[in-house]
Amino acid sequence: APGAQRFIPPEADLNQLREAAPACRGCDLYRQATQVVFSAGPPDAPLVLVGEQPGDVEDKAGEPFVGPAGALLTKALDELGVGREGAYLTNAVKHFKFRLSPRGKRRIHDKPDRIEITACRPWLVAELAVLRPRVVVALGATAAGALMGPAFRVTRSRGELLPWPASAYRPGDFPEVDPPALFMATVHPSAVLRSDDRAGAYRAFAADLAVAVKAAA
Ligand code: URA
Ligand code: SF4
Repeated sequence: APGAQRFIPPEADLNQLREAAPACRGCDLYRQATQVVFSAGPPDAPLVLVGEQPGDVEDKAGEPFVGPAGALLTKALDELGVGREGAYLTNAVKHFKFRLSPRGKRRIHDKPDRIEITACRPWLVAELAVLRPRVVVALGATAAGALMGPAFRVTRSRGELLPWPASAYRPGDFPEVDPPALFMATVHPSAVLRSDDRAGAYRAFAADLAVAVKAAA
């Protein structure tokens, strides 16, 4: 059966989830990737940031957000006084999806599809169930879709603090959280890097994060 659920030990804490993740065969992405990239950050972090999937650098390092997009995210978190260490960083999909460049020299990021996002979602649900963070931020449409459902539009709702899990995709997946957890979607840091107005895009991204950081404090 496809999907990560059967690879997730019941009642696992974060370390047990991390230890179980390399054995996941919930979709085909493990075949091509170097390794699973699970997450980084403290289990008691009040703020969780969810990206799309590890990139080329992360795939080799085994750490999330250590490539170019990660550098931009780290800079924003540093400027907000949180730092990487103050947040829990994870991804909607835990293996790097890529295709090879025509000459086969470069690994080019490929968007995860709905089957892969759905297959990997049980890891994210399990992480959030043990973390019980105050604020969850989706970085980009993939993470927002994984958490809030495919109809969610980042362009319409970015930067808004929304109640959680009232509007979530499958609210039954998540435990009751106390105090009530909040959700926010913003753009992916790689979209900031690709923007024609990079400075403006960065300011808007950092402003969204500032709201989330404040709500998590
Ligand atoms: N982009 C992501 O979405 N996640 C990472 O871990 C790195 C880059
Ligand atoms: Fe499992 Fe997710 Fe990796 Fe697919 S991407 S094999 S579901 S960990």
